[in-house]
Amino acid sequence: MEIKTVGICGFGQMGTGIAEVSAKAGVEIIAYEPDQKFLDKGLARINKSLARAVEKGKMDETAKTATLENITGVTDVNALVDCDLVIEAIVENLEPKIELYEKLDGIVKKEAIFASNTSSLSITQMAAATKRPEQFCGLHFFNPVPVMRLVEVIKTISTSEAAFEAAKAFGEKVGKVVVSCKDTPGFIVNRLLVPYLLDAIRALEAGVATREDIDNGMKLGCGHPMGPLELTDFIGLDTIYYIGEIMYAEFKHGHYANPPLLKSMVLAGKLGRKAGEGFYDYSK
Ligand code: CAA
Repeated sequence: MEIKTVGICGFGQMGTGIAEVSAKAGVEIIAYEPDQKFLDKGLARINKSLARAVEKGKMDETAKTATLENITGVTDVNALVDCDLVIEAIVENLEPKIELYEKLDGIVKKEAIFASNTSSLSITQMAAATKRPEQFCGLHFFNPVPVMRLVEVIKTISTSEAAFEAAKAFGEKVGKVVVSCKDTPGFIVNRLLVPYLLDAIRALEAGVATREDIDNGMKLGCGHPMGPLELTDFIGLDTIYYIGEIMYAEFKHGHYANPPLLKSMVLAGKLGRKAGEGFYDYSK
């Protein structure tokens, strides 16, 4: 099945990023966000990102206009009825995701594929809440979506080969390099990344080095674009904490155990860039 129209549920950082790269590739996007305020904020974020691309000479005004014309924002979920693929990128919590999928299952055409952008929750559990588990997979993009070249396509034991191939083809169509993975907590990237970030926090907690030296160590010693503490601030300390909880619950391995420092910072609201403070101060 060729994917021409894509519904995006949740218009935060990930949803808007996925909408932007897809619309740029000529896919028609219907972005669903129940609150008009969040919808407007998401559209403004895309506008700003495209304006920045024009400014940097990566895109011309005609392409910017065409990209924006491919995106329709809606506050009524029924508008997703004719989508070929629906990608969910709402809050990283199983209960609202399942509630949304149950609703979508009764609205969106039977042949459509459902995909979750979850970074660690069980795709199989979400698929089981619908009558189309064979047309259900994971499509995990990375932040910032317009820059990061990867998408993980996740196949459950129920996903059909046809749906999996269509999802992979969609990932390639929107300009990403596709890696395939089975449905397991953290998939490929977070399975390796999260223990590394947690270990960096443990090193800081143990007084091994300063935050700057830990970050410079990995940036300059290993060529990473960001050090692990900077990257945790970028992703969000609450997100890393949440993924750590899910992975620890599954694997019961100390690699995935959240260090007390991370827990204290999350409880204190020091969530990273989005909160103005994390391991570093962003208030200025
Ligand atoms: N949208 C579009 N373009 C963006 C952007 C955004 N939000 N942020 C940066 N860019 C572009 C810039 O325009 C710039 O492009 P040019 O080189 O063509 O000029 C380029 O990216 C570099 O940006 P900057 O010069 O502003 O800043 P930088 O060099 O410090 O790079 C960064 C910023 C791209 C974020 C870089 O630091 C980086 O790659 N960091 C690592 C990010 C990462 O690891 N992300 C994955 C997180 S894990 C995840 O998402 C999954 C999960 O489940 C937790």
